[in-house]
Amino acid sequence: MSQPTNGHYANGQNSSVNGVSHVEKFNIESIPEIKIPPRVLMGAGPSASYPEALRAMSANTLGHLDPEFLSIMGNVGTMLRRVFKTQNPITGAIPGTGTAGMEAALCNLIEPGDEVLSLVFGYFSNRMKQMSERMGGVVTAIEREWGTAFTIEEVKAALDKMKNPKVVTVVHAETSTGILQPIDEIIKLAHERGALVVIDAVTSLAGCPLLVDEWECDVVFSGTQKCVGAPPGLSPITFSARAMERIRNRKVPVQSWYFDMSLVETYWGDSSAGGRAYHYTAPSNALFGLHEALRMTLLEGVENRWARHEMHSQAVMAGLLTLGLEPFAQEGYRLWQINAVKVPKGLDDLAVRTRLLRDYNIEIGAGLGPVKGQIWRVGVMGYSANRANIFLLLGALENILSDMGQKVEKGAAGEAASNVYLDYDRKKNASTEAPIALEVSEDNAPVIGEAIPAESVAQGVAHQE
Ligand SMILES: Cc1ncc(COP(=O)(O)O)c(C=O)c1O
Repeated sequence: MSQPTNGHYANGQNSSVNGVSHVEKFNIESIPEIKIPPRVLMGAGPSASYPEALRAMSANTLGHLDPEFLSIMGNVGTMLRRVFKTQNPITGAIPGTGTAGMEAALCNLIEPGDEVLSLVFGYFSNRMKQMSERMGGVVTAIEREWGTAFTIEEVKAALDKMKNPKVVTVVHAETSTGILQPIDEIIKLAHERGALVVIDAVTSLAGCPLLVDEWECDVVFSGTQKCVGAPPGLSPITFSARAMERIRNRKVPVQSWYFDMSLVETYWGDSSAGGRAYHYTAPSNALFGLHEALRMTLLEGVENRWARHEMHSQAVMAGLLTLGLEPFAQEGYRLWQINAVKVPKGLDDLAVRTRLLRDYNIEIGAGLGPVKGQIWRVGVMGYSANRANIFLLLGALENILSDMGQKVEKGAAGEAASNVYLDYDRKKNASTEAPIALEVSEDNAPVIGEAIPAESVAQGVAHQE
């Protein structure tokens, strides 16, 4: 094959290693158009995206300084403040997934040599510890058994042993174990010692109470793909005034140019301060999707959204326990959005998850690290948190477990979940709610409207409640 002088190859890659030429035959016709299978996402994330978000993402791309885009970005910030429950001006969404938010938060707050306290009780809290070390922090890590939460006394004892703690890292909702770590007392304590707190809210944002201003959180980062209901790719993040002051008074510049908030804020900031400066090409279509997911969240109401996660968690756990599965996470600290249960002894974890995916299109989460093969994590998050999904999963699991020789009473898991919903419905005065919405057509004749958005069929099931 002759090499074209412009450096481009007509067909195939031609490279030379040690004088030997390798030609790899490549035919674009052999690569089919992608066809995405429908999936019911009930794992540790991502969850299903709102059809509104997906639709918005398929719009034409806008430039990062287009006035229309800037107004969309401004509204994303405004809506994020409401979901985070904060007035922090420096609130937005960083390109990259939740881990990018973690990098951004830690690299801005930690200076080389700073004393950092890391609370490690699962996979993601350990990631925060590792990152803090890479950023030059002098890290004291306290550890807890996976599936349990820290007490305030344990955090106090650790802080008491430190000379000048600057940063505390904590995961609010530890996805790897299904634990909700209370953080308000930890923040108070840290502030008394002069330390700022970086909070991982990847799984907690929009899924359970998170009160950024009331709890005086310093930096909180999240992800779009869990309880918010947009695809992965952005990391919502908010910096308190205290955190921004610390960043502006750093002795050495933030090592990461991309994530340096003193630079990012020149793009995010209000244009009245002399115009926005280009910092990076904002992923406009991803922001369109987040815009819509946040709009849906606020239309539902943040508190209602939390309550929806609680209700579906109670229902799914009632069903899972009826199937003979035991909870993994410590009682009193269980997340609503991630329901962790132990894999019964002698049962092949992978075989069950494979059958769920292959035969029912359902994804659930496996155990990570030390609990690999030992737990399942059932996510009821965002758009995926609905009754239809819960019944689908419980029915599928019942069939699979029974087929694999587990003792299960047919129909009992679904009934247990039903009872939870019936209870909720009764309390809510179910008589006012028709299961099928009646819509009024243009000629004013009532029509039976389908409560299930058509797009949802592609995602397996619909979002209701
Ligand atoms: C608590 C927590 N923190 C951080 C992350 C990392 O986020 P991402 O995978 O979006 O980078 C995850 C992802 O599941 C998470 O659950």
